Amino acid sequence: MKYFFLLFITLWTASHAKNSYPDNHSCSECHAEIYEEYQGSAHAKGYFDDVLHRSIADKISTEKYDCATCHMPMANNLKDIISGKARPDKNNKTHTDAVSCYFCHTIAYVKKAHRFNINIKAKQAANYKPTLYGRLDRPDHNDQHSSVTNPIYAKKVCTGCHAHKLNENNVTIFRAMQENQDSESCIACHMPELNGGADKINKRARLHHASHRFLGIRDKAFRKKGVNITIAAEDNRLTVTLQNKMTHPLIIQSARAKYLRITLRRAGKMVWDNYSQDPREDKQGYFGYHFKKNGEPIVIPYHATWGEVHNLAAKEIRDLTYTVPEIQKGDTVEVDFYVQLAKDDCAKAVNLEGTDLMKPELIKRVGYTIK
Ligand code: HEC
Ligand code: HEC
Ligand code: HEC
Ligand code: HEC
Ligand code: HEC
Repeated sequence: MKYFFLLFITLWTASHAKNSYPDNHSCSECHAEIYEEYQGSAHAKGYFDDVLHRSIADKISTEKYDCATCHMPMANNLKDIISGKARPDKNNKTHTDAVSCYFCHTIAYVKKAHRFNINIKAKQAANYKPTLYGRLDRPDHNDQHSSVTNPIYAKKVCTGCHAHKLNENNVTIFRAMQENQDSESCIACHMPELNGGADKINKRARLHHASHRFLGIRDKAFRKKGVNITIAAEDNRLTVTLQNKMTHPLIIQSARAKYLRITLRRAGKMVWDNYSQDPREDKQGYFGYHFKKNGEPIVIPYHATWGEVHNLAAKEIRDLTYTVPEIQKGDTVEVDFYVQLAKDDCAKAVNLEGTDLMKPELIKRVGYTIK
């Protein structure tokens, strides 16, 4: 009788587990710190809480939401969302969880493809707790999931969504990674070790865990680290050297622009600058995408037939040279490096004009005095 009862319990929990998706919040019971970090990250934001993303997606179509492949990958009705048979539902956790914990930790393999790569998920055994992939050395057991250390994991995990994306006309919307590049470097920079173990009980007394903040362009301290800027000036030549330390190009996101504001001052008065009104006047110092459809400029690249990007490649070092008034002792040069999360024309196209997304934000400032 006792055995009978146990068997019943096991079957009940197993079938229960099979039907319910282990949502982000369910991980917080044991991985509280990682959950908190993750909640503040871009991966926790999707259709419902990233206004730029939603505005652009809705501008493209209010029926089909084919962005879901990468922005809502856990959707339990992904095919219908993509084809337009169903719409994003804010009461569905598999929709609101965006790039979810469970999704990322069950990526078994990434298939290379022309338009964008494809995440292949691990098949989970029916009636059994899920197996999650990671990189912990001999992870401890727990009653919610099995854990498998998988060396392939760190090589592949970011490449399913972050490698490249082409539109239906084979125009590149972004290319952040080369075909054979793996994601170990991405993890090293974007998931540095933080103090504290990986779970609440921390049986092995681990001292560190991988940060799940996924810091990026919105973090003021982190974004300073992407590009080194050095200044040299002689006669009537000013050289600004940019060194991209990242293993991806400077510009990935087609909505974004990054640009330089350079000024030369003498006794406090400005004697030269790299543009007067619009940063785009300085062709060397303005980085961003341009798209056209049948020869006419368009802002949202979804239907573009042509595209071009002025960029700084991964690890590239480039000198930008400017002709300036004859340099004198005591002159000061200031280089300000800015990002616009949504370029003017992009923000206008989706009625987000005047919002903070358009406002240039300082990435870093470098000064130099001629001796
Ligand atoms: C192949 C995967 C993939 C698909 C499909 C995809 N995206 Fe993205 N998207 C990404 C990745 C990866 C990022 C993060 C890159 C970054 O911020 O530079 C991103 C970021 C964005 C951002 C910037 C978000 C912000 O607030 O800064 C916007 C806007 C965006 N995507 C719009 C879309 C729209 C609209 C669609 C559907 C028409 C779409 N994406 C389809 C992978 C994808
Ligand atoms: C009942 C507690 C509990 C819950 C709930 C839980 N975990 Fe875990 N998890 C653990 C423990 C314990 C470990 C082992 C940690 C160690 O070895 O230091 C672990 C390890 C992991 C690992 C490391 C695997 C490896 O091979 O490196 C990942 C990834 C992970 N959990 C993800 C998740 C995700 C995602 C969720 C939510 C869907 C979740 N966990 C829910 C307790 C839990
Ligand atoms: C040397 C450290 C470093 C490495 C390696 C690195 N990144 Fe970054 N990444 C940064 C910094 C710093 C920023 C923010 C500054 C910036 O975007 O100019 C950033 C920005 C980003 C952005 C936002 C870009 C945008 O247009 O605003 C994405 C997406 C990203 N990284 C993904 C990745 C991926 C995927 C990889 C692996 C191929 C990777 N990173 C490797 C440091 C790094
Ligand atoms: C974008 C993909 C991604 C998402 C989303 C994600 N993780 Fe991770 N996680 C990773 C990677 C990659 C590692 C391995 C990092 C390393 O080894 O340096 C990792 C490591 C871990 C570990 C082991 C800790 C360690 O130090 O290696 C745990 C536990 C974990 N994740 C739990 C979670 C939980 C819980 C969530 C959601 C709240 C989550 N992850 C969301 C990619 C992700
Ligand atoms: C399932 C697809 C997916 C996977 C896998 C994934 N990402 Fe992302 N990532 C996204 C999307 C989509 C966004 C943009 C979300 C938004 O802002 O709306 C994003 C945003 C980011 C950002 C913030 C970029 C910014 O604008 O500053 C960073 C950093 C990042 N991802 C790093 C990683 C790293 C590192 C990995 C591998 C461990 C990874 N991602 C795996 C889809 C993914």
